[in-house]
Amino acid sequence: MKLIEVKDYHEMSQVAADYLLSKVKTSDKLTLGLATGGTPQGLYEALINDHNQNRTSYQHVSSFNLDEYIGLSGKHPNSYYHYMNDHLFKHIDIDSENTHIPSGKAVDLQKECEAYDEKIRLHGGIDLQILGIGSNGHIGFNEPGTSFESNTHIVELAESTREANARYFNSIDEVPAQAITMGISSIMKSKEILLLVSGEAKQVAMKKLVEGEISENFPASILNRHEHVTVIADQEALAMVKGLELLNR
Ligand code: GLP
Repeated sequence: MKLIEVKDYHEMSQVAADYLLSKVKTSDKLTLGLATGGTPQGLYEALINDHNQNRTSYQHVSSFNLDEYIGLSGKHPNSYYHYMNDHLFKHIDIDSENTHIPSGKAVDLQKECEAYDEKIRLHGGIDLQILGIGSNGHIGFNEPGTSFESNTHIVELAESTREANARYFNSIDEVPAQAITMGISSIMKSKEILLLVSGEAKQVAMKKLVEGEISENFPASILNRHEHVTVIADQEALAMVKGLELLNR
């Protein structure tokens, strides 16, 4: 894992945007894996600013999102479908036909999971996967205990995850209990991964990621086995990590 240490959330977002834009500008065809949550919002804002200023085109870019709540339609303001349109897609020139998000309203959810992995495979896999991390180490919606071999699947959300995401809903009761998520194995198949980590709430997760053992009890720990991971983390998130040199292995 390679670490880029940055000052704060703003710098994390800008460095991530520059990284992603260098790929967008130098490839003829690019497949991105995209994340939701608070962490990548600044990155998406920076991409929109760049698009407005420099007209960087996304016509050759496809995307696959990590996850979606089960039971929320794309029209629901808290669906990740809605989030992606609102925070990125409608502001840039990406073809909506090329953007993919699992459907949390599919009649046959199991089939939806299998079809999603197949679609990624037929696209030639994900070139660059953007990831955030949950305070319990979840990536996508892969909660502690998820098999490292998992493909896209249906999950029961951990209470701590529902609590963390309740800030976007009127109350915790409205947070769906289940989600559909790319599995750990699906994520690990990405050719390259960019993990963004910011703020005090992620200090313990960051410490476990760097200093802890690789275990299904802490899903993000698997990233230590991927050959091409870059972590962009700010000073607050890194405050508890002792051996920073461990990261640049
Ligand atoms: C959410 C998402 C993840 C995200 C994580 C952290 O539940 N499913 O993809 O990375 O939790 O969220 P945040 O960036 O808001 O801290």
